[in-house]
Amino acid sequence: MDASSSARDPSRRRFVRHLFAGSAGLAALPALSIRDLDGLPAPPPPSAPAPVLPPPAAAGDEAYWGQIRSHFILRDGITPMNAANLCPAPRMVIDRMVEAMRDVDADVSFQNRAKYEQTQEEVRDKLARHLGASADEIAIVRNTSEANNVIVGGLDLGPGDEVVVFDENHPTNNVAWDVRAARFGFSVRRVSVAPQPSGPDAVLDTFVRALTERTRVVAFSDVSNVSGLRIPAQALCRAARDRGIHAHVDGAQSFGILRLDLHAMGCDSYASSAHKWLMGPKEAGVLYVRAEQIPGLWPGMVGVGWGSGAQTSARGARKLETLGQRSDATVAAFGAALDFQEQIGLERIEMRALELARALKAGVTRIPGAELLSPSREDVSAAVVIARFEGLESGDVFEALYRDHGIAAAPTGGVRFTPHVYNTMADVERAVAAVEDVVGRRG
Ligand SMILES: Cc1ncc(COP(=O)(O)O)c(C=O)c1O
Repeated sequence: MDASSSARDPSRRRFVRHLFAGSAGLAALPALSIRDLDGLPAPPPPSAPAPVLPPPAAAGDEAYWGQIRSHFILRDGITPMNAANLCPAPRMVIDRMVEAMRDVDADVSFQNRAKYEQTQEEVRDKLARHLGASADEIAIVRNTSEANNVIVGGLDLGPGDEVVVFDENHPTNNVAWDVRAARFGFSVRRVSVAPQPSGPDAVLDTFVRALTERTRVVAFSDVSNVSGLRIPAQALCRAARDRGIHAHVDGAQSFGILRLDLHAMGCDSYASSAHKWLMGPKEAGVLYVRAEQIPGLWPGMVGVGWGSGAQTSARGARKLETLGQRSDATVAAFGAALDFQEQIGLERIEMRALELARALKAGVTRIPGAELLSPSREDVSAAVVIARFEGLESGDVFEALYRDHGIAAAPTGGVRFTPHVYNTMADVERAVAAVEDVVGRRG
């Protein structure tokens, strides 16, 4: 569900009008500054030091989080609560992107661009540290959708084999398996988890009971974007490993919000996007593949650098980055997003997002007629809060929240709120008051 795709951005419209204003418009083009695109601050000179974030404070320190918020260019009157779909990037990410774009476009020579190969490897190292993996196990891709499809298309599966998928998986880790199965003759079995489970053991048990001697893959979102359910990923990956089953984790809702150690989790592959909770550039993502699994994985696309034997195996998971010319600026900005998180501290980010979600859950469920669809138990929750409201269409509530109160939520069966570190407790109160107002008009 992409609630943001219909959002209208006046500055973009201005830009498009400008482009299509006929020959007069073309003549006027040089006057257009990059700052017109979205009120961006001027990029720093290339040698500017990274902005310094405020010194660490406790998760509940509103003044500290207010300072963190000031690193974002949020439009007045808009409260983003849609991290599960798309996050704003902080200034330092935008600045890095613009700086690298200007640099490349100022000098497209091989000589000038050679430094971005090193940037890419530095970003890979940062990703490996962030995820608890080795750099050779990391492919820098475009998003979770692509990473999921690399796994779906890359494993050797055929008649007699079975793939077990969580029925709340995103289509790229769900329908994608059906499409592959139709071609290669394996079967797909779906697992449903009942709402409001009694705890992680009950969730684990539901999955483990679905594994059979034919199961070759178990593929699941460690946090569901549909219900907000958090799966006990480490225990499920261990159960899969014990049975020789490939565990593929879609981490679109955990990367950048939950602390991760993929080696400890024990998954065979993990996919995620930079533009969600990591607050990174759009159209960047990561695919982790456990070292032992890399040789057996077929690439969906064969690109430069793909050779036979030693040449390919020496590249590790890089062999799965087959996109041709990359956007050096996007990859550089991915690194800046990881720096931003590291400067705040991953533990602090996780605590804060969970604290905001807890407050939101408490506020929303106090509203008469509200039903919480996301889990009420903390041990099976992350920072995804979903509710519906008696007598009201969730789509109408979602629209009214944005139209009348500037609250950017998402319509996903109920109304989904996903707060993050750029939100303050005042935002949570504003969101709850807005829901009260919309629901109160029910009559
Ligand atoms: C669990 C999950 N997987 C995959 C995706 C797709 O992400 P992207 O569009 O960044 O590829 C989403 C998007 O919301 C998601 O929630």
